[in-house]
Amino acid sequence: MFGQLNARIDMNQAPSKSVYIETFGCQMNKSDSEHMLGLLEEIGYQPTLELKEADLMILNTCAIRGGAEDKVFSYLGAWRRQKDKRPGTLIAVGVCVAQDAGETMLQRAPGVDVVFGTHNLHRLPELILKAKETGRPVVEIFQELPDDLPETPVVRLNSISAWVSIIYGCDYNCTYCIVPYVRGREKSRSMDSVAQEVEELAASGFKEVTLLGQNVTAYGHDLDPKVHLGHLLERLGTMDSIKRVRFITGHPRDLNPEIIDAVAQVPNACEFFHLPIQSGDDRTLRRMARGYKVDFYRKQVEQIRNKIPDAAITTDLIVGFPGETEQEFLNTVSLVEEICFDACNTAAYSPRPHTPSANWDMQVPADLKYERLRFLNSVVTEVSHRRNKRHLGSTMEVLVEGRSERNPERLAGRTRTNKIVNFEGPEALIGQLAQVEIATANAWALRGALK
Ligand code: SAH
Ligand code: SF4
Ligand code: F3S
Repeated sequence: MFGQLNARIDMNQAPSKSVYIETFGCQMNKSDSEHMLGLLEEIGYQPTLELKEADLMILNTCAIRGGAEDKVFSYLGAWRRQKDKRPGTLIAVGVCVAQDAGETMLQRAPGVDVVFGTHNLHRLPELILKAKETGRPVVEIFQELPDDLPETPVVRLNSISAWVSIIYGCDYNCTYCIVPYVRGREKSRSMDSVAQEVEELAASGFKEVTLLGQNVTAYGHDLDPKVHLGHLLERLGTMDSIKRVRFITGHPRDLNPEIIDAVAQVPNACEFFHLPIQSGDDRTLRRMARGYKVDFYRKQVEQIRNKIPDAAITTDLIVGFPGETEQEFLNTVSLVEEICFDACNTAAYSPRPHTPSANWDMQVPADLKYERLRFLNSVVTEVSHRRNKRHLGSTMEVLVEGRSERNPERLAGRTRTNKIVNFEGPEALIGQLAQVEIATANAWALRGALK
């Protein structure tokens, strides 16, 4: 297949064209966008940050909530007007929303030239060339990832920290979630291919990798021989120049003690666990089909904190799930206080197509959902602030990633526990590990001085 593509590239030795890409959604999508740029580079497209000068505009979409999907169509409306000003420009829309919409995308968003899904990113160059050649829209959606998925080239947008996908899809069926529908079943990459990618990153000077999956804690259960995330962390732990290895997102049920042990023992495995609980109420968890009770989650947290006292634990929470009572909502609020999360992503429940709970009675009215969300957010902010204050006066290792966006006088980086730290220091520290003494803390970030 790539042979065919290469032949076409040779025929296309035109001057370089530019591609603008807009990415919504999770880190998986951000990583997918870097692979799209890599694939498109092979047919002569260079990335641009200027929409107005792009020959190709790509929208990488997220379907997780109604709001994310609405944003896709409002962007595509604006892009169509941009295309009218610059005839010949192509619009491609891909990944989660496109996977579900398929052909209907063409009616819902006139002006789109290419529609592709979550399982055929590697086909993007072919699809773009075809749309260009024929002057007609091209829609291609695969129902699952091909078995012989090729390794795709990649243009990394960050030279210090890299995303590495280790498992695709999700085998759970949480009753609110569209991800299994749009991302398909779990499929782990082999340890060898992950390790090879990380070795190449190390050789190019990267300092940090984040292992990605909708359910990274399930990594390896489908491989032969079976492995788990702890094995992978041990293997990547032998690469000295990679200073930090993180992983997101894990399902609490699949976090086994061996994974926690690996984080405790492997020097470059970061003490950071993003473990979405979704609700602090057992009846709601059961109706969400999460497969655990609050007590199970408490025990997981206890295990982590016993083995790794300084670990940061973060979570995702949904409020206003259909039928959620005031008391059930308050159980979530008290759980945030009790666990004392380092950070929480919160969201109002959004009914999604292809999910059972969208059709249930007792949908919580929008104004009540948002009232609950506001209240929960105020508690989350206070708890994160309290949690961050415990670092005051301590010295933390920071991987310096660049200048602070808010105050370019300062450098910005993250601790092993994923806390943002701002401090003054020389440009030369970018890409290096620095020791910073923490002087102030708010709910979202720490500030300090170079030691
Ligand atoms: N695989 C991860 C989460 C992936 S989706 C896990 O199992 O936890 C990211 C987050 O989006 C979820 O954790 C959930 O909090 C939120 N989310 C998913 N579906 C949603 C919906 N229908 N409405 C509101 N939030 C939702
Ligand atoms: Fe969605 Fe549940 Fe799978 Fe997470 S585990 S992606 S919330 S179905
Ligand atoms: Fe959104 Fe798709 Fe990620 S629905 S959260 S972009 S897997």
